[in-house]
Amino acid sequence: MALPEKVVDNHYFESIIDTSDEWIVQRTGVRERRHVVEGETTSTLATAAARKAMANAGCEATDLDLIICATITPDQPFPAVACFVQEALGAENVPSMDISAACSGFVYAMATATAFIESGHYKRVLIIGAETLSRTTDFTDRGSCILFGDGAGAAVLEATEEDKGVRYTVMQADGKGKDFIHIPAGGSRTPLTPELIEAKEDKMKMDGRGVYKFAVSKMQWLLGDCMDACGLTPDDIDMVIPHQVNSRIIESATSKHNFPIEKVYTNLDRFGNTSAASVPIALAEAMEKGVVREGMTVLFVAFGAGLTWAGAVVTL
Ligand code: UT7
Repeated sequence: MALPEKVVDNHYFESIIDTSDEWIVQRTGVRERRHVVEGETTSTLATAAARKAMANAGCEATDLDLIICATITPDQPFPAVACFVQEALGAENVPSMDISAACSGFVYAMATATAFIESGHYKRVLIIGAETLSRTTDFTDRGSCILFGDGAGAAVLEATEEDKGVRYTVMQADGKGKDFIHIPAGGSRTPLTPELIEAKEDKMKMDGRGVYKFAVSKMQWLLGDCMDACGLTPDDIDMVIPHQVNSRIIESATSKHNFPIEKVYTNLDRFGNTSAASVPIALAEAMEKGVVREGMTVLFVAFGAGLTWAGAVVTL
């Protein structure tokens, strides 16, 4: 994982909007998050995370067959962040593309990489989730700006004959919910004008309550679907790594399946919601701490703008 050094705590928001540390902690679980400073971008974070993942995997740039970066906050509208990373790594001629599935992005990338590996097309795929949401947040909107943070996480997926790896993936979407979380202007539908920028239509808008209900029901569904598909019960899962959305959403969904709290990894108190980066940052931190280790079975669940949702069961 790679995180900006700048820590932004809840007291900062007390100084710019009508909110309190107490409200933010109670309603979301977030105590602090990281924000990029000048010179840091989605691709610099993505590249730093990618280098660490490759070092851990003992893999050189020339060993890669594909680079996928999940992001909704690219350095520029195009080209893909994955191409920036490819250049920085010196991974010459390696195909590189982004996936735009918001907070589900990393699990979508995992499912895509798995399909390429299972089909025999590729042996080694670098997947990254990287975001700089602080660049697209409306810091006058107290319902959303307190939630998000910046960061990146990455992993290398490799073909293996051993009885381990990605056992199951599921991806779904519902475009009817595309206005639940979105940036209204800046694309072909509503090109930017100075007036739209003034009205902050180039920043994220969110129906917090609507997303809350969707998130609880989809997380609950994903947990059940992933376990059913693999014939597993909560006793067989060593750790759930959910999208780091909101501690109340995570507790509500995981408790319905009777997952004990120690089997649900969260770090949103320190990093907030980093969208596509949240799952790989949580995985990297859980592995660094040794609470997730080789041989363990991990259940990933994520959901986000689109609306999109995705899950995966992986034995490391
Ligand atoms: O990756 C997915 C990204 N999206 C999300 O994570 C959003 C999911 N939704 C949520 O996490 C929650 O809905 C929020 C944290 C955004 C809001 O919490 P809530 O318990 O659903 O509050 P609410 O929207 O029902 O609002 C309750 C009150 C309102 O005031 P009134 O109308 O009751 O007077 C809001 O204006 O809380 C107010 N409020 C705040 N007060 C202090 C909203 N944001 C804040 C704030 N500080 N930052």
